[in-house]
Amino acid sequence: MKQMIIEGNHKLSGTITIGGAKNSAVALIPASILSEGICTIKDVPNISDRDALIEILTLLNCEVKINDNELIIDSRNLKNTQIKESLSNRLRASYYFMGALLGREKYVEIYIPGGCNIGSRPIDMHIEGFKALGAKIKTDGNKYILSADKLIGTDIFLRFQSVGATINLMLASIHAEGTTIIHNAACEAEIINIAEFLNNMGANITGAGTSTITIKGTTKHHDASITVIPDRIEAGTYIILGALCGDNLCIKNICPKHLKSLTTKLKEMGANLIINKDNIIISSTNNLKPINIKTLVYPGFPTDIGQPMSVLLTQANGTSLFEETIWENRMGHVPSLNKMGAKIKVNGMSALIEGPTKLKGTTVIATDLRGGAALVIAGLIAEGTTIITDVEHILRGYENIITKLTQVGAKIELKEI
Ligand code: EPU
Repeated sequence: MKQMIIEGNHKLSGTITIGGAKNSAVALIPASILSEGICTIKDVPNISDRDALIEILTLLNCEVKINDNELIIDSRNLKNTQIKESLSNRLRASYYFMGALLGREKYVEIYIPGGCNIGSRPIDMHIEGFKALGAKIKTDGNKYILSADKLIGTDIFLRFQSVGATINLMLASIHAEGTTIIHNAACEAEIINIAEFLNNMGANITGAGTSTITIKGTTKHHDASITVIPDRIEAGTYIILGALCGDNLCIKNICPKHLKSLTTKLKEMGANLIINKDNIIISSTNNLKPINIKTLVYPGFPTDIGQPMSVLLTQANGTSLFEETIWENRMGHVPSLNKMGAKIKVNGMSALIEGPTKLKGTTVIATDLRGGAALVIAGLIAEGTTIITDVEHILRGYENIITKLTQVGAKIELKEI
């Protein structure tokens, strides 16, 4: 068990360099097996989700070389085997092995995925999509067994623009016979990154980044490489931190287009930010206006930045409304923020946030990844010492968070207990 100990109330200045996007990398790693060759993935963040996926690849007899942030994955000698529950439930993205193995091997045995407790997280759209492609699905307790003689391209309509279902169905269908069209597909930047990788290995995917994605089945796939796009959620988290305690804090290696919904809201609040081609420079101000935010699918305000943003809203001059629309349990961090002195009233999936409120250090619990990141921000602006427990959630998604924050002047350390 690890804890973070934060001494708050210090100005942060200097540069934080953003790493590769977790939610892209965790799909690119399983996708590599579809090449049946050797793949190079650059800018993979060094987070515990990466390590869990490498363990699954190793279980499948793939060879993985790690050179800093580069992974070289050789899946030529893949041996299909059951992915045990203790591995699949370590993270959400283990489910991408469903699409990837079904596509390559036409057979998968895998247990239900894990992931943050932010909602019920069904995978019915993934399963319905696999069935539409011709797969047979059996369940045995928590285990899924997916099999197919062959996969045949078809039209798939998603009832919601699910990121996971869109990616999983792209993975399964590149080897299918004929054409698959995913309607009402998710449009996140990560989807484009995955499609580009699959195309680099010989797939024929068009329309990624729009709500209609067309995949023409191809039989020959080969070695490929890809660079993971910058993590817009990691960037968003540090930009929000800069708006609270930055002194010309530079957030580098970002794609401003991917952060437009956040920067638009920050400007509406009166935050002090300069947006450059691949970085944002941000300083704190006492004149933040209250605003309303509602999380939506891309390009709307990202659900994963909602919790960090709620901390910023505790410092605005007036009452803000934070509405979550994707996950039922996005307010797990609120009791901790209120314990620190925030005035937040939760009503179902919405919260009214009264500001400005002085935050004071105390012991709080990270209930999930982004909720945990929100507590790190709160601790860094609070008076006194904040102890965050259950920080394993945070370490799943933020690469080198202690080093990155320490380098810009934060007083934060990780303690094994
Ligand atoms: N949904 C269903 N059935 C399905 C799939 C999804 O009902 O078969 C529902 C979910 O319950 C949810 C909504 O659809 O209400 C959106 O789910 P989506 O499938 O888009 O989410 P996901 O793929 O499970 C990814 C990210 C999440 C991020 C969401 C939304 C990964 C590994 N996870 O999850 O990231 O919140 O998209 O953008 O890519 C995080 O990074 O902290 C995180 C939770």
